[in-house]
Amino acid sequence: MKEQQLMTLDIIAGSSVPGLARGIARRLGTTAHFPRIEKFPDGEIHVVEGDYTPSQTVAYVQTMHPHPNDMLVEMEFTVDLLKELGAERVIAVIPYVGYMRQDTRHVKGEAIAIRSMLKMLDFAGINDIVGVDMHLHRLGMEELASFSRIKIHEVGAAELLAGKAGQGLTKPLVVGPDSESERWAAAAAQVLSTDYDVLEKHRLSAREIEHRPRSLDAKGRDVLIIDDIVSTGGTIMDVIKSLRAQGAMRVNVACTHAVLSDIDSLTGLFRAGMDEFVSTNTINNEFGIVDVSGLIADKLKTIT
Ligand code: R5P
Repeated sequence: MKEQQLMTLDIIAGSSVPGLARGIARRLGTTAHFPRIEKFPDGEIHVVEGDYTPSQTVAYVQTMHPHPNDMLVEMEFTVDLLKELGAERVIAVIPYVGYMRQDTRHVKGEAIAIRSMLKMLDFAGINDIVGVDMHLHRLGMEELASFSRIKIHEVGAAELLAGKAGQGLTKPLVVGPDSESERWAAAAAQVLSTDYDVLEKHRLSAREIEHRPRSLDAKGRDVLIIDDIVSTGGTIMDVIKSLRAQGAMRVNVACTHAVLSDIDSLTGLFRAGMDEFVSTNTINNEFGIVDVSGLIADKLKTIT
């Protein structure tokens, strides 16, 4: 019965990570479909499915970086179209779920963007979301799920990341830059049969971070720093500098989502003393060597 259902699960690729969509389809032994996506000279997105008839259940793969707003609009239009063409259940595979950091109101009248986004996606016809290492820092999964009728599923890449980024390190100390990263640090430490610690982070602004001074016992040790997102690189830069000052040996960095929003994000990390950088392919980037297609394919098997 399961096998029969899987045979009819089409994978539809958004424009952001078509290689990952194909990888997921290959792992499931199913078809990947690539709609035509155009952008008009004024910036409007144009989605064309042609003669395509979708399977009853489809998985639509679209990550949210770069250009999260364009990716979101493309997703809305495509999902609405897929539903119109006959798909009954649309599972949105969103490897990097954007807007997760706008999950609370810091100032009066601020939009809670993740809530609005989920309502929009629900309205477009998305039934399920599969995300990788979602930024659940203030909200729990239950609270997130309460914003819409969409069923939300998460897969974790910390074990795979640790396997790659831990290569060449001797019994490294695994470090998470803040308390929220503990779940990834713990998983990585287990894979590497070693210990972990997490720091206390205080964000002063989008680009200014303060880590409470804390001795990590990093002297003479290799270190693997692990986090969900590297954006400006400010968080990790701060940690590397402090580890280097404490006498750490090799320092490798692993993250799930290499957002790398500043021109200097990566060069800044190398300048601060990082030896290796490893990320997944949830976002296209030079260092995205950890393939999450297997994790996603396995999750799709369990929910279809
Ligand atoms: C925040 O809590 C996240 O887990 C990351 O630590 C953060 O998004 C990294 O941002 P940046 O690279 O800009 O410091």
